[in-house]
Amino acid sequence: FQEKTLGGQHWVITAGPTREAIDPVRYISNHSSGKMGYAIAQAAVNAGANVTIISGPVSISAPAGCKVINVESAEQMHQAAMKQSDNADVFIACAAVADYRAADIAPQKMKKSSQDMSISLVRNPDIVKDVAAKANKPFVVGFAAETQDVETYALGKLTSKKLDMICANDVSIATQGFNANQNALTVFDKDSSTEIPLADKAMVATQLVKLIAEKRS
Ligand code: PMT
Repeated sequence: FQEKTLGGQHWVITAGPTREAIDPVRYISNHSSGKMGYAIAQAAVNAGANVTIISGPVSISAPAGCKVINVESAEQMHQAAMKQSDNADVFIACAAVADYRAADIAPQKMKKSSQDMSISLVRNPDIVKDVAAKANKPFVVGFAAETQDVETYALGKLTSKKLDMICANDVSIATQGFNANQNALTVFDKDSSTEIPLADKAMVATQLVKLIAEKRS
């Protein structure tokens, strides 16, 4: 896998969590650190690609040489992804996107009362599904972060979202997945599966980028 294998290609990668505001001081989010998505970006840059990261709020630095578009919410990530994927060769959805957002964002800090309360949630757009449905779609790779029935759910997402490839990520194990330094993936396309065993995210990312480059050629 040579340094300039991906020369001239544009790879767009979503990374990190989204934040869905409830009021000016509170939000719904998850434990994604951005480490996996940023490691994929680094591996793609190393192989010569032009890389755009669409990133939710994270506390790590982007790899040198990447263009970074910072967003907070799923709707903002969706808008950026639809635009950036117009001229992309590969789109990788590594972000942990909130499936729901608050139906209404309170304009002022919500006050505690003597009553219990509930928040009404509405569905967010499905970013990777909408990119995969575009007429001029790039090669689209999704992730499936699951705590049970990992393979079944991953294959379901491969089909229902019409993806070219999906990375099944068992996040029930504390040493891999969300916010860990290591990860392990099973990568499925429509007719094969490949194991990427537990290793530092940089190593996993290098193998994944190589696999994507092979599969789309
Ligand atoms: O960031 P790290 O701490 O390094 O952790 C990495 C990770 C565990 C977040 C990453 O490896 C991972 O598994 N990312 C996908 C997380 C996720 O939200 O998976 P999901 O199964 O809920 O979503 C399936 C796919 O649809 C994903 O590609 C996701 O990006 C995409 N999606 C989901 C919802 C939505 N509204 N839009 C989307 O595009």
